Amino acid sequence: MNRVIFSVLAALLAISVSAQDLTDSQRAAIEERIHPVGQSCMEGDSGCGGAVAVAAVASSGSRSGEEVYNSACLACHSSGAAGAPIYGVAANWTDRIAKGNAVLYTSGIEGIAGTGMIAKGGCMSCSNEEIEAAVDYMVAGSK
Ligand code: HEC
Repeated sequence: MNRVIFSVLAALLAISVSAQDLTDSQRAAIEERIHPVGQSCMEGDSGCGGAVAVAAVASSGSRSGEEVYNSACLACHSSGAAGAPIYGVAANWTDRIAKGNAVLYTSGIEGIAGTGMIAKGGCMSCSNEEIEAAVDYMVAGSK
């Protein structure tokens, strides 16, 4: 039994000694090899903007265009309620798409006075970006 413990200790000692025996260039080579997999970057580290940006988007809770559409736009835009252009019906959208995205985004965010298209489709918790994503989703699915 003692012999087993001893050999485990000896093995551990051998490993830790060999890790310390690495030369600087060997360490650099190892870091180079493991870097692409883990992209070891810390918050605020400017060297890994991509990874930080992805994390920021995820943590802001931003909803996809499809999610926003399903929760805030579908009620009118799937049935044509109040004269809404119907999702997926190209004939309802051709003239509107021709006005360009900027106009459609404004309609989505501010609504269209005097029509059933209320500001943000009534989704006041939606950011402008989320409404624009919903417009993109509707346009892409209605061409
Ligand atoms: C209460 C019903 C209703 C809801 C909810 C609604 N819409 Fe609309 N929407 C309309 C109607 C009605 C029109 C047509 C208005 C018109 O031009 O007469 C319209 C038109 C639009 C247009 C075309 C605008 C243009 O300039 O031609 C876009 C884009 C649009 N809606 C986006 C959205 C988005 C995005 C949502 C969800 C966030 C949404 N709508 C939710 C009723 C609705």
